Amino acid sequence: MVKTNAQKKKNILVVGNWKMHPGTQAEAIILLETLNRNIKSKTPYATVVVCSPTLFMVGLQKSLKKGRTLLGAQDGFFDDTAPHTGETSVAMLKTVGVSHIIVGHSERRSHGEDDQLIAKKVSAVLQGGLTAIVCVGEKERDVHGDYFTFIEKQVKSLLQTVKKAQLPRLVIAYEPIWAISGGNGHGKTATPEDAYEMKLFIQKVITDTLDRSAVSKVRVLYGGSVNEENAEGFIHEGKTDGFLIGGASLKPADFTKIVYISDIYGN
Ligand code: PGA
Repeated sequence: MVKTNAQKKKNILVVGNWKMHPGTQAEAIILLETLNRNIKSKTPYATVVVCSPTLFMVGLQKSLKKGRTLLGAQDGFFDDTAPHTGETSVAMLKTVGVSHIIVGHSERRSHGEDDQLIAKKVSAVLQGGLTAIVCVGEKERDVHGDYFTFIEKQVKSLLQTVKKAQLPRLVIAYEPIWAISGGNGHGKTATPEDAYEMKLFIQKVITDTLDRSAVSKVRVLYGGSVNEENAEGFIHEGKTDGFLIGGASLKPADFTKIVYISDIYGN
């Protein structure tokens, strides 16, 4: 049977990372409802996830039911038995319908999260039946290409506790820290070629660590100053499997455009 273009397309994963925004529950609801109205059922080839602050998740339940946006968390703790002041466990996040959890974002790594802790969190998310979006990325690039060794170490470490059957729920988000807007990044944008080269490298590390068949099961996203203007390039030349989006995810019109572009041009 000849496949239509639509059938050939791979679903692109578009993840909005709201970080510590917006400031109130009411604003969070407006943000999600606006997105719901914009994307409704018009974009079947893009899977859309918004990672809201934990505090707002209960208040977003009604709006989530009305739309097709999935709920993600920005972090999840690996243990749900012992006392851990201030933490929210993967099991707790599940009770409010969270399906995806970001692990090891560079902004958390900068507060001391190391590869060991991140591997434990990845394992907990996958064992809990959820999808782990694990961030890797170098602080800066050096002319000798040592940053490849750095990424290799991060990827190998996160793979150590992943079981084969869990691979389809493992997503690796390549976010070069120097390209993340605000915070620790410098807001420079990586080129689609930079993203593609790193995607291929990450896939090679997956092959070397596990085996070749694992590569097609793990999505590799790009993140770092993604916007409505550069998204298409990251899909076409960058061959990305999706996006992790900070700043633009708080602007409904811009985020919607990225969802549309992902839906139309999915690889
Ligand atoms: P940015 O953030 O899109 O604002 O650069 C990305 C991220 O930190 O996940």
